Amino acid sequence: MNDKDLIKLALEARELSYSPYSNFQVGAALLAKNGTVYTGCNIESASYTPTNCAERTAFFKAVSEGVTEFTTIAIVGGLKDTKIDICAPCGVCRQIMAEFCASDFRIIMADQDYNMRICSLDEILPYRFGPSNLQGEITK
Ligand code: THU
Repeated sequence: MNDKDLIKLALEARELSYSPYSNFQVGAALLAKNGTVYTGCNIESASYTPTNCAERTAFFKAVSEGVTEFTTIAIVGGLKDTKIDICAPCGVCRQIMAEFCASDFRIIMADQDYNMRICSLDEILPYRFGPSNLQGEITK
């Protein structure tokens, strides 16, 4: 599974986006260490607050099936019927990444032409709060 393959799966997942309120369609493809890919789309609610981002949909699908170790996520997002540009994950999704992923977890933000920006969890969420803080570790 290379980066381009993962972006393709994210683009396909985006097609299933349920986003009638924002019309902002997001797809994600999360690669687990065991080689399995979990896809996700954003799912909105008429009462807005329960809305779930594509990235978290992918994480929650994986974790709910007992898979908790990951290497890479590909994310694509943009308004319906417009050209997809690079879309960065929201803060809540970054926090979920911090829950399950190591510093070198790779985040691929891509457009529809497979142009990509890649960064690590450390780069996208430095000075984070995570599971180790609850073990007494101090954020460095
Ligand atoms: N959204 C995502 O799916 N992922 C992000 O990281 C940013 C935002 C969704 C949530 C909502 O359905 C729509 O995009 C507009 O915020």
